[in-house]
Amino acid sequence: MATTKRYDVKDLALTPEGVRRIQWADRQMPVLAAIRERFEREQPLSGYRISACLHVTTETANLARTLKAGGADVVLCASNPLSTQDDVAAALVEEYDIACFAIKGEDNDTYYSHIEAAVDHKPQLTMDDGADVIGVLHSARREQLGDIIAGTEETTTGVIRLKALEADGKLGFPIIAVNEAKTKHLFDNRYGTGQSTIDGIIRATNDLLAGKRFVVCGYGWVGRGVASRARGMGAHVIVTEVDPMRALEAAMDGFEVLPMARAAEIGDIFCTATGDKGVITAEHMERMKDGAILSNTGHFDVEIDKGALRSLATETRHAREFVEEFTMADGRRLYLVAEGRLVNLGAAEGHPALVMDMSFANQALAAEYAVQNAASLERKVYPVPDEIDREIARLKLATMGIDIDQLTEEQAKYLASWDEGT
Ligand SMILES: NC(=O)c1ccc[n+]([C@@H]2O[C@H](COP(=O)([O-])OP(=O)(O)OC[C@H]3O[C@@H](n4cnc5c(N)ncnc54)[C@H](O)[C@@H]3O)[C@@H](O)[C@H]2O)c1
Repeated sequence: MATTKRYDVKDLALTPEGVRRIQWADRQMPVLAAIRERFEREQPLSGYRISACLHVTTETANLARTLKAGGADVVLCASNPLSTQDDVAAALVEEYDIACFAIKGEDNDTYYSHIEAAVDHKPQLTMDDGADVIGVLHSARREQLGDIIAGTEETTTGVIRLKALEADGKLGFPIIAVNEAKTKHLFDNRYGTGQSTIDGIIRATNDLLAGKRFVVCGYGWVGRGVASRARGMGAHVIVTEVDPMRALEAAMDGFEVLPMARAAEIGDIFCTATGDKGVITAEHMERMKDGAILSNTGHFDVEIDKGALRSLATETRHAREFVEEFTMADGRRLYLVAEGRLVNLGAAEGHPALVMDMSFANQALAAEYAVQNAASLERKVYPVPDEIDREIARLKLATMGIDIDQLTEEQAKYLASWDEGT
């Protein structure tokens, strides 16, 4: 049983349920399990202190177990106030002896005090989903920067921020951008977020998607996933974009592409997936139909202007769990899901474990790579090495029972030549 008692979680009595659900996820995470077995034997992270700021879900628990199996001393805090699964947080502390600071629905002060607790761990490695720990280390805790050999970053928004820090010449330690691995964003952002976002909207509203006009803002990896899944449920999907290439792709994928001001007038359900701020504003809210549902699956709760929604409303009330009703002066009602925070984690359980298997295999192997290559890494944002990415794809296929062909020697030679074939 637990010896580590560094924690702030909702209720340790939730442990048995958390353990059952962590084990359930583990069955869908065979690549991470294989890494965990090897880590147990080889102890590649022996003695390293890791502070991880990730969504505290069943899948993250299996990552934390893997890092611990590799010899690391891990402290976990939440990367979003609404995404914590309280039973998982309890199980991490009580059953797996991993320090955890996370409570679903925590207020802003508690959220940041939990990040402080993770930073107090004096990490040598950091793991972020949205760059919050790195943000604290680069502001209030600069004296700790020198102790850190590297950090990893899980999501698009975090990578954008870290690249900006690098461009300013202010990045304090090397970063491995896990989000940039193909075995991460091609699958996690598209299929994982795609499915779980629809799941979150349905769980929160119990709405029928068939026949609805479903507006997806942003046609990046996440937007593509949400759009294709919404179409699969029978919705008429409308995409808004600012990038002509992405807009063209959406149009050729068969979606209607409109500017937000026009989409606002006809949409039944809206979902932002841009990583940008002010995507749905007062101007749009004023045009929306009675009953429109507003949700976000981008990293921060800045995509829907919640301040504008509040100031336009003459009345607000809690409509049902994770749904707030805003009545406008003209009587129209708009519904905000999961406080405008990422809906797949706020109102559902986040990505299915099968897809997080690859994302977190990248995290575990990136941590090992950082330790092995600490001496040669500079204060830059690095991609996950291609060998790691390909190895994860190979392992994942093997666990799915899928065989593929190999290039013959003749084919390999042909594909590498310039003078054959005319
Ligand atoms: N909910 C989750 O679990 C989850 C998972 C992965 C990523 N994310 C987050 O989702 C967001 C999107 O990630 P991504 O990987 O798809 O990024 P991406 O960069 O591939 O795509 C974002 C798209 O949004 C478009 N865009 C930007 N501003 C816009 C605006 N004002 N209106 C319309 N379109 C606009 C961009 O042109 C781009 O095509 C990020 O914040 C990321 O961190 C969330």
